[in-house]
Amino acid sequence: MISIAPMTDTPAVQHSKAPSTRMRMATPAAIEAAIRLLEDGGVVGFPTETVYGLGADARNPTAVTTVFALKGRPADNPLIAHVSGIAMAETLVRVEDQAQLLMEAFWPGPLTLVLPYTGGERICTAARAGLQTIALRQPAHRVASALIGGLGRAIVAPSANRSGRLSPTTPQRVAGEFSDALPLILSDGACAVGLESTVLGVSDNGLTLLRPGGLALDVIEAVAGPVQRSPASTSAKRPAAPGMRHRHYAPGIPLRMDARDLREAEAYLGFGPNPFAPKGGMARLNLSPQGDLEEAARNLFAMLARLEASGAAGIAVAPVPTDGLGAAINDRLRRASEGSTQ
Ligand code: TXA
Ligand code: MG
Repeated sequence: MISIAPMTDTPAVQHSKAPSTRMRMATPAAIEAAIRLLEDGGVVGFPTETVYGLGADARNPTAVTTVFALKGRPADNPLIAHVSGIAMAETLVRVEDQAQLLMEAFWPGPLTLVLPYTGGERICTAARAGLQTIALRQPAHRVASALIGGLGRAIVAPSANRSGRLSPTTPQRVAGEFSDALPLILSDGACAVGLESTVLGVSDNGLTLLRPGGLALDVIEAVAGPVQRSPASTSAKRPAAPGMRHRHYAPGIPLRMDARDLREAEAYLGFGPNPFAPKGGMARLNLSPQGDLEEAARNLFAMLARLEASGAAGIAVAPVPTDGLGAAINDRLRRASEGSTQ
């Protein structure tokens, strides 16, 4: 085994002594250290292809309680369990035909499936918020896969932000959220997708969209047939996924979407090559100068964070098309703008 002092030598002190956060490149040695921390009930920041997560051993209630406390997350909002593949999923949920089809088509990847839970003690009650279902996802990221494989069981992980804030797509943003409260953040650059996973309910009544995300709905429907749009996935006020009832994805300053003008002291977030875009602004960024929705998704949270830090009084965001990944981008913008005083 690779020895990496002092992390592996001092597993017990990490919570009681509030260690300073260590950000380490996700080398094999650092991943090994992270696995030891998870085994010892610690919480680790790690990259996935969607956003950075705050990982804990799914069967350890103390570790899971630490995750909720770090995020300031309401106890009624369950976590996603990250698995190594269909075989691990089958130890946790009932996998029937449609779920199997979706897993085979889209795992590993940015699709989370909410399924009937059958895993006994494998995922602690706190992580499931006491529900009879569990949200499962196999991440498509070598670091996340190595962590799950090394631990040998599921890792529960919410996005690595404080509750109600923007999800982090870089390790620096994770460090900014939790300063010295995390013993280890595995760093592997910016996330390739940049939006959280699409969350889909799978039941005898069919498929329901609980949260639009990094896998576009038309891609899912092409494989699995029609998906019901639950009211929760289109309005923050009628939640189906428990997490959608809370204000989400919010920058610290007011945000206006579909903006065609700029107001006093606002920053501007553009999209595409738009000759009619308003000029000026406290700061200006473009989600994708070419008008590519995948690029826009990748840039969304990081650019909102930069504009928030620019000293502007608010952010005006250009219209973004609603097809493909645009649905999830517009969802996040809508949630950020609700709760804003415009
Ligand atoms: O891409 C992602 O999904 C990232 C990375 C780290 O995997 N994770 C993430 O987790 O976004 P979180 O906790 O920030 O969002 C999970 C969402 C919440 O809205 C939660 O309410 C919903 O999934 N959810 C979890 N378990 C559920 C369940 N059993 N039924 C319905 N919704 C559930
Ligand atoms: Mg989140």
